[in-house]
Amino acid sequence: MSKTNHINRIPRAKGIDMAAFYSPKECARKAKHIVFSAENERIIEEFLTILGMKDRFAEHEVPIPNKLVMFGPPGTGKTLTASYVADRLNLPLVLVRLDAIIHSHLGETSTNVRKLFEYARVNPCVLFLDEFDAIARTRESNDEVKEMARVVNTLLQCLDEFEGDSICIAATNLETQLDHAIWRRFDTKMNYAMPDAPSRQLYINKLVGQFEHQANVKHYMCQRLEGCSFADVEQIILKAKRKAIITSSPLHEQLISDAYNEYMPRLLGT
Ligand SMILES: Nc1ncnc2c1ncn2[C@@H]1O[C@H](COP(=O)(O)OP(=O)(O)OP(=O)(O)O)[C@@H](O)[C@H]1O
Ligand SMILES: [Mg+2]
Repeated sequence: MSKTNHINRIPRAKGIDMAAFYSPKECARKAKHIVFSAENERIIEEFLTILGMKDRFAEHEVPIPNKLVMFGPPGTGKTLTASYVADRLNLPLVLVRLDAIIHSHLGETSTNVRKLFEYARVNPCVLFLDEFDAIARTRESNDEVKEMARVVNTLLQCLDEFEGDSICIAATNLETQLDHAIWRRFDTKMNYAMPDAPSRQLYINKLVGQFEHQANVKHYMCQRLEGCSFADVEQIILKAKRKAIITSSPLHEQLISDAYNEYMPRLLGT
């Protein structure tokens, strides 16, 4: 089924054209191979478990969490997690890049933020604010842009009033740039990092799947791809698979090594 068909079935609100919409089914397809660190897996499972026990929490008058912030380096699964949550909750994903909102209409940024939260109030969804630091930078560092302080205040207000069946997820590479007041509004926080060896191995196993490969090549990949993000690992393995297909050979060490050298991953700290 085409992407447009999925998207068109989701109710769209006038005035939030800055958002991209994805159905739970599309999200499930994207997040199929997601790998979490043990800690993040625990956090996300607890978050989802609580959402599945709303009545019990209401009985005890304990508010349920509905705001999640994720931070960490590029290509480690933040955006992917938003898809994962949307799939697990069977809610559409409404994805907004906050940097895009600001750059296009500075004067209307606050209005746009309000419209987004108003949409999420009326239509149950996972409202995903990507590149969150674009708006939520500390107010001090933005005194040259007065508008930004106003936007941060709007955001604070929207987060405080956020309730109902929607979930708000924010992601940033630069958590140190986030305004403290905003940071505090998020009840759940997830720290993303480059994969360690066991996570890399798990991801490699998932990506290689049934693809014909030489014995030991997965172990070699795990060592060779040390320091790479999940996104890098994925791109390098895809490149190697293409090479394997055009040369009618199974995946082997040389193909991985060539793919790595051609892809030239930027390793953290280099
Ligand atoms: N933890 C992960 N598990 C499985 N695949 C991953 C993971 N992280 C990244 N990927 C792969 O890399 C792609 C890009 O990841 P994603 O967009 O989630 O990164 P990000 O952390 O949001 O990066 P950025 O900070 O650049 O936005 C994903 O679509 C997926 O294919
Ligand atoms: Mg992202």
